[in-house]
Amino acid sequence: MKHNSTLADIQMIEIPKISDPDGRGNLSVVEKDILPFPIKRVYYLYDVPSNSSRGGHAHIDLVQCLIPLSGSFDVVLDDGSSKKTITLNRPDRGLLIPTGIWRELENFSSGGVCLSLVSDVYKEDDYIREYDEFLSFKGA
Ligand code: TYD
Repeated sequence: MKHNSTLADIQMIEIPKISDPDGRGNLSVVEKDILPFPIKRVYYLYDVPSNSSRGGHAHIDLVQCLIPLSGSFDVVLDDGSSKKTITLNRPDRGLLIPTGIWRELENFSSGGVCLSLVSDVYKEDDYIREYDEFLSFKGA
């Protein structure tokens, strides 16, 4: 896996949306090669207080796509050199986070739900949870 990802490698992906012609709402589907990896795990964050922060880690090999199924939240992304914040609030847009990017999820709206589609099963040894260790990992 590529370990020297930068903020430029982070992508928003458009998830196909099927709008109902009779006004019954929208349906979005993730299938085929929409994602650049096969999904091995799905998890979701919900009931997150607006003043709480989730994430606070980077991954060594794992890649994931975050989709705001409901409401909104901010994702603060950090490649060890620069940071940027992206607000997710469209269920037909997913944020693709490559390996080696520190992320924090914050400012959840009431009812905010973050769906995470992940390239691997849960492995604690794929996590970097100390920021200093992350900077060393990035060679900063
Ligand atoms: P954590 O990674 O700290 O959550 P976040 O980064 O979203 O704030 O995970 C919280 C707890 O849940 C921690 O004990 C690990 C556990 N966990 C699993 O058991 N399986 C999983 O797939 C995930 C994502 C977390």
